[in-house]
Amino acid sequence: MHSSPDDDTLPRGVADLSMQTDSEQASPPPSRERRQFLTLSAAAAAGTLTRPGFAQGRDFGQGFVWGAATSSYQIEGAAARAGGGVSVWDTFCKRPGAIRDGSSGEIACDHVNRWRDDVTLMRELGMRAYRFSISWPRVMPDGTGAVNAAGLDFYDRLVDALLAAGIEPWVTLFHWDYPEALHKRGGWLKDDSPDWFAKYTTAVVKRLSDRVRNWMTLNEPEIFVILGYQLALFAPGEKLSWSEVLRISHRVLLAHGLATQAIRATSKQPCQVGCASALQPAMPATEQPADIEAARRATFSGMAAWLMEPMYAGSYPQAELKAWERDVPRFPASDLRTIHQPLDFFAANIYQAATVRAGADNKIEQVPRLPGHPRTLMDVFDVVPGGLYWGPRFYYERYKLPIVITENGTSVPDWVALDGKVHDPQRIDFMQRYLRELARARNDGAQVRGYFAWSLMDNFEWAEGYRQRFGMVHVDFATQRRTPKDSFYWYRDVIRSNGGNL
Ligand code: FCB
Repeated sequence: MHSSPDDDTLPRGVADLSMQTDSEQASPPPSRERRQFLTLSAAAAAGTLTRPGFAQGRDFGQGFVWGAATSSYQIEGAAARAGGGVSVWDTFCKRPGAIRDGSSGEIACDHVNRWRDDVTLMRELGMRAYRFSISWPRVMPDGTGAVNAAGLDFYDRLVDALLAAGIEPWVTLFHWDYPEALHKRGGWLKDDSPDWFAKYTTAVVKRLSDRVRNWMTLNEPEIFVILGYQLALFAPGEKLSWSEVLRISHRVLLAHGLATQAIRATSKQPCQVGCASALQPAMPATEQPADIEAARRATFSGMAAWLMEPMYAGSYPQAELKAWERDVPRFPASDLRTIHQPLDFFAANIYQAATVRAGADNKIEQVPRLPGHPRTLMDVFDVVPGGLYWGPRFYYERYKLPIVITENGTSVPDWVALDGKVHDPQRIDFMQRYLRELARARNDGAQVRGYFAWSLMDNFEWAEGYRQRFGMVHVDFATQRRTPKDSFYWYRDVIRSNGGNL
């Protein structure tokens, strides 16, 4: 059974995780990786791999990038309120039933007006880095052509304020708020679409690259392509055929490649470029070599592999090419060279992991979660800290790039207590467990350079509206009052001690 492109019942977070579970499996990694795999599995067999919870290895090393993340549509307030254009999310939110609580990002955290106070909070947290995204329609109302000066000015001032606070900006160029004007012209289905993105990228980089050194082209192509264009769960809410979805994916990958070239050509200083993928790595059910190999194969399969492999390895994965043969678009070989740009880090958004084992005939078997497995408020995200061990380990092993966790965090039902504070022990426990696993990955040889908590503050959680609170800062959406949660102070200590309190 291959990934199920036709299954429109997959909830968010599952669509991208579909795995090969039969003989049509991804090609084995090149021999270099094979050798490393043999070493690692020999160590596992000899029982030398550390287990979760061990005190050893909580050392994150010098210069570790401790940060938090947000995105434009989720916090700023609609771009159209300040001379910007309409995004597909503005339109999608108006569709009856699209957003669980009927809300939108029209005001969100009103960050566009309150950014100074928000930077003050960031400084209090002691963040070394802030990952935020630029709203394409705020900068270019029509998606291409004329620039909205007020839009670029906003980011310009934000960057200055961050640097003055000692916080390094990490900028994502596209976190899903696609210009409605371009969508009306055919959007990602159009041949021109990668070029539109590259031009917008150039305008932003021209303005900010004297101060910004860290760039991410896209946020989670896996999610916005599948949920937005196949399942209609996210903007723009389309239900296209699988061949159209694969055409869109290809253009999105080309957009990444062209934007990467544009950043390097335009940047006023040496810079680091990456692309933040939505990943659900697979963990082995045991540390037996066969299970580890099953987990590795599952990690590099399905839609995740479809989007990662061209970017990092320069080709589409064989098994998926075969399984989706009928629907794969025709393209010139040069496209893969454009997509496969050298990148400086591997950016991974990881919230959870699947568990697999090796079955009969070399098949990968998914191990179901036990009843009562710890869950978060967000239905699709279970608590599986091992994802921050096995993910970084497998991705580093295969792509040999420093790993940056660009999102990780949780939604729990917290509120302002009678004492005026927000007590979120579950978030603290969640982050502590995940960060211990990340330290263990580092200890076992994966080069891990940074960690960004999702999120700095509660915000508009897409189709869930305001029902989910992922922030370390509580936001009262009626008054816009910010209240740092207990996790805020705890994370401040993590940063101060460089993970020493984990
Ligand atoms: C990720 C998104 C981010 C946020 C978190 C909870 O998939 O990138 O915007 O919604 O999930």
